[in-house]
Amino acid sequence: MQIIRDIAALRHAISAMRQGGKTIALVPTMGALHEGHMSLVKKAKTLADHVVVSIFVNPTQFGPNEDFDAYPRDEQKDGAMLAEAAVSILWAPDVSVMYPPGHVTHVEVAELGADFCGAARPGHFDGVATVVSKLLNQVRPDIAIFGEKDWQQLAIIRQFVRDLDFPVDIIGAPIARAADGLALSSRNAYLTPQQRSDAVHLSEALNRAAQAIAAGENVASVLAKAEQAIIAGGFDSVDYLALTNKDTLARLDQYSGPARLLAAARMGKTRLLDNLAVG
Ligand code: PAF
Repeated sequence: MQIIRDIAALRHAISAMRQGGKTIALVPTMGALHEGHMSLVKKAKTLADHVVVSIFVNPTQFGPNEDFDAYPRDEQKDGAMLAEAAVSILWAPDVSVMYPPGHVTHVEVAELGADFCGAARPGHFDGVATVVSKLLNQVRPDIAIFGEKDWQQLAIIRQFVRDLDFPVDIIGAPIARAADGLALSSRNAYLTPQQRSDAVHLSEALNRAAQAIAAGENVASVLAKAEQAIIAGGFDSVDYLALTNKDTLARLDQYSGPARLLAAARMGKTRLLDNLAVG
Protein backbone atom coordinates (compact mmCIF):
# COMPACT_ATOMS: atom_id res chain seq x y z
CA MET A 1 0.00 0.00 0.00
CA GLN A 2 1.35 3.42 -0.95
CA ILE A 3 0.86 6.24 1.57
CA ILE A 4 0.62 9.50 -0.37
CA ARG A 5 0.43 13.03 0.99
CA ASP A 6 0.74 15.35 -2.01
CA ILE A 7 -1.47 15.83 -5.01
CA ALA A 8 1.17 15.46 -7.76
CA ALA A 9 2.27 12.08 -6.35
CA LEU A 10 -1.37 11.01 -6.04
CA ARG A 11 -2.13 11.88 -9.68
CA HIS A 12 0.96 9.97 -10.80
CA ALA A 13 0.01 6.86 -8.79
CA ILE A 14 -3.61 6.99 -9.97
CA SER A 15 -2.55 7.18 -13.66
CA ALA A 16 -0.28 4.18 -13.15
CA MET A 17 -3.12 2.24 -11.49
CA ARG A 18 -5.48 3.02 -14.35
CA GLN A 19 -3.21 1.27 -16.92
CA GLY A 20 -5.05 -1.50 -18.75
CA GLY A 21 -8.46 0.00 -17.98
CA LYS A 22 -8.40 -0.78 -14.26
CA THR A 23 -11.15 0.77 -12.12
CA ILE A 24 -10.82 2.67 -8.86
CA ALA A 25 -13.07 2.95 -5.81
CA LEU A 26 -12.64 5.70 -3.23
CA VAL A 27 -13.59 5.30 0.43
CA PRO A 28 -13.40 8.74 2.10
CA THR A 29 -12.86 8.66 5.88
CA MET A 30 -11.65 10.79 8.75
CA GLY A 31 -9.64 7.89 10.15
CA ALA A 32 -10.11 6.26 13.59
CA LEU A 33 -11.10 3.28 11.49
CA HIS A 34 -13.42 0.60 12.84
CA GLU A 35 -15.30 -2.38 11.42
CA GLY A 36 -17.84 -0.01 9.83
CA HIS A 37 -15.12 1.58 7.68
CA MET A 38 -13.61 -1.81 6.91
CA SER A 39 -17.01 -3.03 5.65
CA LEU A 40 -16.92 -0.11 3.17
CA VAL A 41 -13.42 -1.15 2.08
CA LYS A 42 -14.58 -4.74 1.68
CA LYS A 43 -17.49 -3.63 -0.48
CA ALA A 44 -15.19 -1.36 -2.52
CA LYS A 45 -12.91 -4.30 -3.25
CA THR A 46 -15.81 -6.25 -4.76
CA LEU A 47 -16.69 -3.32 -7.05
CA ALA A 48 -13.33 -2.04 -8.38
CA ASP A 49 -9.82 -3.24 -9.22
CA HIS A 50 -8.14 -0.77 -6.84
CA VAL A 51 -9.28 0.82 -3.60
CA VAL A 52 -8.09 4.24 -2.45
CA VAL A 53 -8.92 5.21 1.15
CA SER A 54 -8.59 8.82 2.19
CA ILE A 55 -7.95 9.83 5.79
CA PHE A 56 -8.45 13.52 6.39
CA VAL A 57 -9.94 15.06 9.53
CA ASN A 58 -11.63 17.93 7.74
CA PRO A 59 -11.53 21.15 9.79
CA THR A 60 -14.22 22.87 7.71
CA GLN A 61 -16.93 20.43 8.79
CA PHE A 62 -16.40 21.08 12.51
CA GLY A 63 -17.99 24.07 14.26
CA PRO A 64 -15.94 26.32 16.57
CA ASN A 65 -17.10 24.47 19.71
CA GLU A 66 -16.92 20.97 18.27
CA ASP A 67 -14.41 18.16 18.70
CA PHE A 68 -11.93 18.86 15.85
CA ASP A 69 -8.89 18.86 18.18
CA ALA A 70 -10.14 15.92 20.24
CA TYR A 71 -11.28 13.84 17.23
CA PRO A 72 -9.51 10.44 17.55
CA ARG A 73 -6.44 10.12 15.29
CA ASP A 74 -4.24 7.02 14.97
CA GLU A 75 -2.75 6.88 11.48
CA GLN A 76 -0.40 4.03 12.34
CA LYS A 77 -3.19 1.72 13.44
CA ASP A 78 -5.42 2.85 10.54
CA GLY A 79 -2.56 2.28 8.06
CA ALA A 80 -1.97 -1.24 9.38
CA MET A 81 -5.67 -2.11 9.01
CA LEU A 82 -5.75 -0.77 5.44
CA ALA A 83 -2.51 -2.53 4.44
CA GLU A 84 -3.91 -5.77 5.84
CA ALA A 85 -7.04 -5.24 3.71
CA ALA A 86 -4.81 -4.81 0.61
CA VAL A 87 -5.86 -1.23 -0.09
CA SER A 88 -3.79 0.22 -2.97
CA ILE A 89 -3.40 3.81 -1.76
CA LEU A 90 -3.85 5.60 1.54
CA TRP A 91 -4.41 9.25 0.60
CA ALA A 92 -3.54 11.28 3.70
CA PRO A 93 -3.06 14.95 2.82
CA ASP A 94 -2.23 17.55 5.41
CA VAL A 95 -4.61 20.49 6.01
CA SER A 96 -2.20 22.77 4.10
CA VAL A 97 -2.45 20.48 1.04
CA MET A 98 -6.25 20.30 1.14
CA TYR A 99 -6.74 23.99 1.94
CA PRO A 100 -3.65 25.90 0.82
CA PRO A 101 -3.48 29.59 1.72
CA GLY A 102 -5.94 31.54 -0.43
CA HIS A 103 -8.51 28.71 -0.70
CA VAL A 104 -11.94 30.40 -0.71
CA THR A 105 -14.37 28.22 -2.70
CA HIS A 106 -16.98 26.06 -1.04
CA VAL A 107 -19.85 23.82 -2.14
CA GLU A 108 -23.24 24.40 -0.53
CA VAL A 109 -26.26 22.13 -0.91
CA ALA A 110 -28.97 24.48 0.24
CA GLU A 111 -32.23 22.66 1.02
CA LEU A 112 -31.01 19.20 1.95
CA GLY A 113 -28.47 20.62 4.38
CA ALA A 114 -30.82 22.92 6.32
CA ASP A 115 -32.67 20.50 8.64
CA PHE A 116 -31.52 17.74 11.04
CA CYS A 117 -27.71 17.69 11.47
CA GLY A 118 -27.50 20.86 9.34
CA ALA A 119 -29.69 22.72 11.85
CA ALA A 120 -27.69 21.46 14.82
CA ARG A 121 -24.31 22.02 13.13
CA PRO A 122 -24.42 25.17 10.95
CA GLY A 123 -21.90 25.00 8.09
CA HIS A 124 -21.16 21.31 8.68
CA PHE A 125 -22.51 20.08 5.35
CA ASP A 126 -20.83 22.88 3.36
CA GLY A 127 -17.57 21.55 4.82
CA VAL A 128 -18.50 17.97 3.92
CA ALA A 129 -19.64 18.84 0.38
CA THR A 130 -16.51 20.93 -0.23
CA VAL A 131 -14.04 18.31 0.96
CA VAL A 132 -15.84 15.42 -0.79
CA SER A 133 -15.85 17.46 -4.05
CA LYS A 134 -12.12 17.97 -3.65
CA LEU A 135 -11.48 14.30 -2.84
CA LEU A 136 -13.47 13.25 -5.93
CA ASN A 137 -11.44 15.65 -8.11
CA GLN A 138 -8.15 14.55 -6.55
CA VAL A 139 -8.69 10.78 -6.89
CA ARG A 140 -11.16 10.78 -9.83
CA PRO A 141 -12.57 7.36 -8.86
CA ASP A 142 -15.17 5.37 -10.81
CA ILE A 143 -17.15 4.83 -7.62
CA ALA A 144 -17.13 6.28 -4.11
CA ILE A 145 -18.58 4.49 -1.10
CA PHE A 146 -20.17 6.11 1.96
CA GLY A 147 -21.83 4.58 5.01
CA GLU A 148 -25.59 4.91 5.37
CA LYS A 149 -25.16 5.86 9.04
CA ASP A 150 -24.80 9.47 7.90
CA TRP A 151 -27.98 9.30 5.82
CA GLN A 152 -28.31 13.07 5.38
CA GLN A 153 -24.65 13.31 4.34
CA LEU A 154 -25.19 10.58 1.74
CA ALA A 155 -28.30 12.35 0.35
CA ILE A 156 -26.34 15.61 0.08
CA ILE A 157 -23.40 13.94 -1.67
CA ARG A 158 -25.74 12.26 -4.17
CA GLN A 159 -27.38 15.64 -4.83
CA PHE A 160 -24.22 17.66 -5.55
CA VAL A 161 -22.69 14.84 -7.58
CA ARG A 162 -25.82 14.93 -9.76
CA ASP A 163 -26.03 18.74 -9.85
CA LEU A 164 -22.34 19.29 -10.65
CA ASP A 165 -22.01 16.35 -13.09
CA PHE A 166 -19.25 14.53 -11.24
CA PRO A 167 -18.47 11.39 -13.31
CA VAL A 168 -18.70 9.00 -10.35
CA ASP A 169 -21.20 6.47 -8.98
CA ILE A 170 -22.04 7.07 -5.34
CA ILE A 171 -22.72 3.85 -3.45
CA GLY A 172 -24.32 3.67 0.00
CA ALA A 173 -23.30 0.82 2.29
CA PRO A 174 -25.53 -0.50 5.09
CA ILE A 175 -24.83 0.58 8.67
CA ALA A 176 -22.39 -1.71 10.47
CA ARG A 177 -23.66 -2.45 14.00
CA ALA A 178 -22.22 -3.88 17.20
CA ALA A 179 -23.75 -7.14 18.44
CA ASP A 180 -26.24 -5.19 20.62
CA GLY A 181 -27.35 -3.05 17.66
CA LEU A 182 -25.43 0.20 18.30
CA ALA A 183 -24.36 1.79 14.99
CA LEU A 184 -20.54 1.75 14.77
CA SER A 185 -18.99 5.22 14.87
CA SER A 186 -15.56 6.68 15.62
CA ARG A 187 -17.28 8.84 18.25
CA ASN A 188 -18.40 5.73 20.21
CA ALA A 189 -14.83 5.85 21.56
CA TYR A 190 -15.87 8.89 23.65
CA LEU A 191 -18.49 6.87 25.60
CA THR A 192 -17.83 5.70 29.18
CA PRO A 193 -18.64 1.99 29.78
CA GLN A 194 -22.01 2.97 31.33
CA GLN A 195 -22.84 5.28 28.40
CA ARG A 196 -21.78 2.60 25.94
CA SER A 197 -24.22 0.10 27.43
CA ASP A 198 -27.04 2.72 27.57
CA ALA A 199 -26.38 3.81 23.96
CA VAL A 200 -28.16 0.73 22.65
CA HIS A 201 -31.48 2.39 23.58
CA LEU A 202 -31.21 4.58 20.46
CA SER A 203 -31.26 1.70 17.96
CA GLU A 204 -33.81 -0.21 20.06
CA ALA A 205 -36.19 2.77 20.09
CA LEU A 206 -35.77 3.21 16.32
CA ASN A 207 -36.50 -0.46 15.70
CA ARG A 208 -39.68 -0.38 17.78
CA ALA A 209 -40.79 2.88 16.15
CA ALA A 210 -40.15 1.58 12.61
CA GLN A 211 -42.25 -1.51 13.30
CA ALA A 212 -45.10 0.49 14.86
CA ILE A 213 -45.18 3.00 11.98
CA ALA A 214 -45.11 0.24 9.35
CA ALA A 215 -48.00 -1.41 11.25
CA GLY A 216 -50.07 1.78 10.80
CA GLU A 217 -49.78 3.42 14.24
CA ASN A 218 -50.01 7.21 14.48
CA VAL A 219 -46.63 8.65 13.47
CA ALA A 220 -46.56 11.57 15.95
CA SER A 221 -47.39 9.41 18.96
CA VAL A 222 -44.92 6.69 17.94
CA LEU A 223 -42.15 9.31 17.63
CA ALA A 224 -43.06 10.88 20.99
CA LYS A 225 -42.95 7.46 22.67
CA ALA A 226 -39.61 6.65 21.05
CA GLU A 227 -38.15 9.97 22.21
CA GLN A 228 -39.27 9.26 25.79
CA ALA A 229 -37.66 5.80 25.60
CA ILE A 230 -34.36 7.28 24.38
CA ILE A 231 -34.27 9.77 27.27
CA ALA A 232 -35.36 7.11 29.80
CA GLY A 233 -32.57 4.91 28.41
CA GLY A 234 -29.87 7.38 29.49
CA PHE A 235 -29.56 9.98 26.71
CA ASP A 236 -29.56 13.65 27.79
CA SER A 237 -31.43 15.02 24.78
CA VAL A 238 -32.75 14.15 21.35
CA ASP A 239 -31.64 16.59 18.62
CA TYR A 240 -34.16 15.14 16.18
CA LEU A 241 -36.22 12.05 15.59
CA ALA A 242 -38.25 12.17 12.40
CA LEU A 243 -39.93 10.12 9.73
CA THR A 244 -38.69 11.37 6.36
CA ASN A 245 -38.88 10.82 2.63
CA LYS A 246 -35.74 8.74 2.13
CA ASP A 247 -34.46 10.84 -0.81
CA THR A 248 -35.66 14.43 -0.26
CA LEU A 249 -35.54 14.12 3.56
CA ALA A 250 -38.86 15.98 3.77
CA ARG A 251 -40.49 15.32 7.15
CA LEU A 252 -43.56 13.06 6.95
CA ASP A 253 -46.43 13.05 9.42
CA GLN A 254 -48.04 10.07 7.75
CA TYR A 255 -46.63 6.81 6.52
CA SER A 256 -47.53 5.83 2.98
CA GLY A 257 -44.67 3.73 1.66
CA PRO A 258 -40.90 3.35 2.00
CA ALA A 259 -39.48 6.05 4.29
CA ARG A 260 -36.55 6.59 6.63
CA LEU A 261 -36.47 7.26 10.36
CA LEU A 262 -33.60 9.62 11.22
CA ALA A 263 -32.33 10.31 14.72
CA ALA A 264 -29.56 12.13 16.57
CA ALA A 265 -29.28 12.12 20.36
CA ARG A 266 -26.76 13.39 22.87
CA MET A 267 -25.20 11.57 25.77
CA GLY A 268 -22.84 13.81 27.73
CA LYS A 269 -20.59 15.44 25.13
CA THR A 270 -21.20 12.71 22.55
CA ARG A 271 -23.74 13.06 19.77
CA LEU A 272 -24.82 9.75 18.21
CA LEU A 273 -26.63 9.28 14.90
CA ASP A 274 -28.76 6.40 13.70
CA ASN A 275 -31.38 5.76 11.02
CA LEU A 276 -33.57 2.95 9.83
CA ALA A 277 -35.70 2.06 6.81
CA VAL A 278 -39.45 1.90 7.41
CA GLY A 279 -41.29 -0.50 5.16
O1 PAF B 1 -18.28 10.63 6.98
C1 PAF B 1 -17.13 11.08 7.14
O2 PAF B 1 -16.26 10.42 7.71
C2 PAF B 1 -16.78 12.47 6.62
O3 PAF B 1 -17.87 13.33 6.74
C3 PAF B 1 -16.26 12.45 5.17
C4 PAF B 1 -17.30 11.94 4.19
C5 PAF B 1 -15.00 11.58 5.08
C6 PAF B 1 -15.88 13.88 4.74
O4 PAF B 1 -14.91 14.43 5.57
